[in-house]
Amino acid sequence: MKKHFISLKDYSPQEIRALCELTSQIKKAPQKYKGALSGKCVGLLFQEPSLRTKTAFYVGVVQLGGEAVYYNPQEIKLGEREKISDVAKTISLYLDAVVLRTFSHKTVLEFAKFSSIPVVNGLTELFHPSQVLADVVTIIESKKDPKKIKVVFIGDGNNVCNSLIYAISLLGGNLVVATPKKYAPQASIVSQAHSFRRKSGASIELTTDACAAAQEADVLYTDVWTSMGREKEESLRKKVFKNYQINDKILELAKKNCIVMHCLPAHRGQEITDSVIDGKNSVVFEQAENRLHAAKAILVKLLKK
Ligand code: CP
Ligand code: NVA
Repeated sequence: MKKHFISLKDYSPQEIRALCELTSQIKKAPQKYKGALSGKCVGLLFQEPSLRTKTAFYVGVVQLGGEAVYYNPQEIKLGEREKISDVAKTISLYLDAVVLRTFSHKTVLEFAKFSSIPVVNGLTELFHPSQVLADVVTIIESKKDPKKIKVVFIGDGNNVCNSLIYAISLLGGNLVVATPKKYAPQASIVSQAHSFRRKSGASIELTTDACAAAQEADVLYTDVWTSMGREKEESLRKKVFKNYQINDKILELAKKNCIVMHCLPAHRGQEITDSVIDGKNSVVFEQAENRLHAAKAILVKLLKK
C-alpha cells in the first residue's frame, strides 16, 4: 500500500480492487475490524463543509477503535495562519494519519510532501478518490462488472468526474463523459487516463451530447453543476448546464436496470430531478453508506503495521 491516498492514479488496478474487497469485507463483518485502529488518532482537517466525508471518516475511526480530532475551516487556515509545511510537520508529531479537504489540490500535495504520516484526500478541486472508491464498490454490489459496463457521467467535468475517469480507465469498462464544452475534464487527466486505458482495455469518450451519451447506459452518474468554491458562478452555470440534467427523459434512454448515482449533496431540480434521485434506479444512499466502509478500508490499509 502506498503511503498516502491522494489520487487513484497512484494506485494499480490490483491495489484498487484490493481496497474494494476490503471495503466489502469490513461492511460484511465490521466486528472483525473493531480494534484495527486501537491506539491511533486520525486528524480531519477540513477547509470546506462536509457531511458524508467528515462523518464517514470520523465514525469509521471510532468504529475501528481509534480516536478522531476534527479541525473546522476556521481553525487552522492552512497557509494563512502558518505555512502548510509547518502544519504538516507539526501535526505529524501528534497524529497517525490525516484526512484533508482543501479547495486546492496543490495544498494536499504540498502537505503530503512534509507529512511523515499518511495523508488522505477528502476532496480537492481536482479529485475525490474516497468517494469513487465507495462508488466502485456500489457498482459491484449492483451486480455489475466494472469491466463490462457503460458508465455515463453527465454534468461538470470536475473532481468526482476526474476520479471516476481514473477508476474506470484503470479497472476497465466504458466511460462516456458528457459536459458542456468549456466544462470538460482537464486534458492532462484525460491523457493520463488514456495511458491507463491502453493496459486495461477501457474506453473513454468525451462528448457534449448528454442524450447520445445516455443511450444504453448501465450507470448514470452526476454531480452538482456548481461545486464548493465556485458559488459566484452559479447563475452562469445554471444556464450553461441546463441540458445536462438527469431526468426521466434521460433515464428512459439508459438500460432498464441502469443505476443512477450521485455523490451528494444534490442540488435537486438542477443536475437531477426528484423523480430520478428518489426513483427505483437510484443508489445514492447505498453510495453514501459505502463511504463509511470505504473510509475504514483506506485507513486500515494505510495504517497497517
Ligand atoms: N460526497 C461528499 O463528499 O459529501 P460531503 O461533501 O458531505 O462530504
Ligand atoms: N463536486 C462537488 C463534490 C462534493 C462532494 C464539490 O466539489 O462541491
